[in-house]
Amino acid sequence: MNGETRATFAGRISAVLVAAGSAVGLGNIWRFPYLAGENGGGAFLVIYLVAILLIGLPLMLSEFAIGTATHRNAVGAFRALDKRWVPLGYMGVLSSVLILGFYLVVAGWTAEYMIHSPFSSQVTNPDPQSHVLAFENFVANPWKPVLYAVGFGLATHLIIALGVQKGIERAAKWMMPLLFVALVVLAVNSILMPGGMEGLKFFLKPDFSKVTPATFLMAVGQAFFSLSIGLGTMITYASYFKKGTSVRATALQVTLLDTLVAVMAGLVIFPAVFSAGIEPGSGPSLVFITLPSIFSNISLSALWSTIFFLLLVLAALTSTISMHESATAYLEEEWNLSRCVAARMVTLITCLLAVLASLSLGMGKECMIFGLTFFDSLDYLTANIMLPLGALLTCIFVGYRFDKKLFEQQLYPDCCRKGEYAVLRFLVKVICPITLLLIFVNNLGLL
Ligand code: PFF
Repeated sequence: MNGETRATFAGRISAVLVAAGSAVGLGNIWRFPYLAGENGGGAFLVIYLVAILLIGLPLMLSEFAIGTATHRNAVGAFRALDKRWVPLGYMGVLSSVLILGFYLVVAGWTAEYMIHSPFSSQVTNPDPQSHVLAFENFVANPWKPVLYAVGFGLATHLIIALGVQKGIERAAKWMMPLLFVALVVLAVNSILMPGGMEGLKFFLKPDFSKVTPATFLMAVGQAFFSLSIGLGTMITYASYFKKGTSVRATALQVTLLDTLVAVMAGLVIFPAVFSAGIEPGSGPSLVFITLPSIFSNISLSALWSTIFFLLLVLAALTSTISMHESATAYLEEEWNLSRCVAARMVTLITCLLAVLASLSLGMGKECMIFGLTFFDSLDYLTANIMLPLGALLTCIFVGYRFDKKLFEQQLYPDCCRKGEYAVLRFLVKVICPITLLLIFVNNLGLL
């Protein structure tokens, strides 16, 4: 498929919203707070912010540039630029599929919480321990979470099958501002809870004594996961940008928005965690225990809970769509399949993975892979190995193989900012690869 016949997003606002729709999701509101909680709070936040600025943003610019230069999916883009780098595209597509495998499970949990909120008396229960139990019971249920995960996979499939423009843009346009307003209201509420200030301190005051080499790997992995980079999703999305869409402004706005939502999520979660006496290192269940504790404390709990989890469902949906789209676009364009058949194949494989991942937290708890459940292995393998590796290779490709002029043209089509471009190239060629390599070497024992 060439640039002329491919679908495009309507314009820059659309490009920002759609790319931000991919970036903002469970990574910000579920994964970021629980990793920060497990890794010392403030210190994790600082490392995360530095990683976003020094590695995340340059990498997003690089992926956007590859997408707008080629107008192809991740594999096709590398094939068009330099055939030897095609495996990097394959690794990206594989990462999307594997992430979807566990992401659909968590997305299913948010859907369950949204649906049961108006009907369950649990919503008004002020005892935080009861929310822990409710969550554990739900996750260990043999069929309920599985059905929700598959349901989420099918919803994603429907939007993908409707086509790029109609489905994805519509969903992203109105959800983001609403989610943001809800987060601000909840953050204020949470900070005002008794003992909330302790949580604020934990999140904003760095304690570097807790930092280990693993903290760096987790923070960098989380930065990539949250920005949806290191796996070619942003290459695919940028390939749909309309001519004239500013790559620089889009990348900057998406990065800012994504980071803001993650920080807001921390401001919602940690004051409430400390106020309710919940353990900040509770792991993946943290948000699903803490949010209900916040809601049970405010009037109209059921309404708040429903609205917030609805927004979370939508945020998750715009992210699952982007992962699905990147794998579907690959099959459609590289295997010459119809969009429908390509989408069906991706849905089938990802739903199968999601079923296994969901069961691995309940019935299949005993089956461990290197000491991790299947769910955790998918998470660890993608966020801590495949995405940082994909990011490292993308930096090397863009820094040393991608035509310097072509890269510059994508970023500065009608202006020239030599200084800024020189800084970016230095980050992509030197700082990013060296930092990523150092982090990898330091974590060799863990990988
Ligand atoms: N960035 C998404 C989030 O933070 O929830 C997750 C994600 C979407 C990761 C798309 C990777 C991806 F390609």
